[in-house]
Amino acid sequence: MKVLFTGIQPTGDIHLGNYFGAIANWVRLQHEYFSYISVVDLHAVTIPYEPSEMPARVIDLAITLYACGIDLEKTRLFVQSEVPGHADLTWVFNTITPLGELERMTQFKDKRDQFRASVNVGLLDYPVLQAADILIYKGEVVPVGEDQVQHVEFTREVARHFNARFGPTFPECQALLTKTPRVLGLDGDAKMSKSRGNSIGVLETPEQIWAKVAPAKTDPERVRRTDPGTPEKCTIWSYHQLVTKEPELSEIHTGCTTAGIGCIDCKKRFHANLMKVLDPIRERHATLTGTGRKMVEERLEANAAACRAVASGTILEVKEKMGLKKVWKTQS
Ligand code: AMP
Ligand code: TRP
Repeated sequence: MKVLFTGIQPTGDIHLGNYFGAIANWVRLQHEYFSYISVVDLHAVTIPYEPSEMPARVIDLAITLYACGIDLEKTRLFVQSEVPGHADLTWVFNTITPLGELERMTQFKDKRDQFRASVNVGLLDYPVLQAADILIYKGEVVPVGEDQVQHVEFTREVARHFNARFGPTFPECQALLTKTPRVLGLDGDAKMSKSRGNSIGVLETPEQIWAKVAPAKTDPERVRRTDPGTPEKCTIWSYHQLVTKEPELSEIHTGCTTAGIGCIDCKKRFHANLMKVLDPIRERHATLTGTGRKMVEERLEANAAACRAVASGTILEVKEKMGLKKVWKTQS
């Protein structure tokens, strides 16, 4: 079975971009691959954060992932900082990574501009830690949203550099995208992201979500109810792709282009279909937060132990190849 690795930062409640851009794929793929999913807290501390909030964010993200359908038995869901090998391998990879490659990374440039006052080395080094995450388990497939493709390509480069310098060790991994690798935000201008304030949270109540969807921008040229619309210019239409199936999808397309349905009808149908996906997730989240929490905690502990065993095997192999493993000692 091929190895799958992916990660998600505990930086806030997960939204439709995370779910439909990535997590839904993880739920499907866990049956086809040996899957590792990491709550990447060491990545999250590269931007300003409140230490007292971090533990709750980590456990709540794990609970949310289980609520979304990550399998307790099948998938090794674990917390990154519980496995020291990730940071060890990062250091090794730092020594074979040209500085210029990191300075060119899109996410680094975005974050550098966003957090001007607190740009730290960790922010620049972020993709190297991500490469270590994947390669310490010899991950071959990496299901992510479109914004992470550059980091996966970088990981392939790191593997290539290491293998060329020290001998064949790491596989060259591949990014796997969903049908919707870039979910737009409610503003319709940029990808959905927590920091832009244009997101719909997976755990928000039906009422909270309706309060965001009802006033959302649609096709700007559809001014009156009787004007025919162009679905391709409408964010809500892009959201229908996430949750609405045929034949309803075609009906809505025709309804919009012929002014047969209005924008509010269209939004109500999207909302109803979205709730069919989110209601069970919200319910499972509530159960796991209450009576199921202990079980989640135990599972995370056990998974971290299993990950540490795999990670230390890779570190040993790497050290040997680099001439770092007590090779200076007289062999007896
Ligand atoms: P993050 O919350 O940044 O750790 O992202 C977790 C996963 O969600 C990554 O695989 C991202 O690529 C994916 N993701 C985040 N925002 C979006 C979006 N708006 N559309 C599609 N995928 C996304
Ligand atoms: N950088 C990723 C994000 O922001 C999270 C991440 C960390 C990750 N390590 C990873 C994703 C390894 C895939 C594989 O979404």
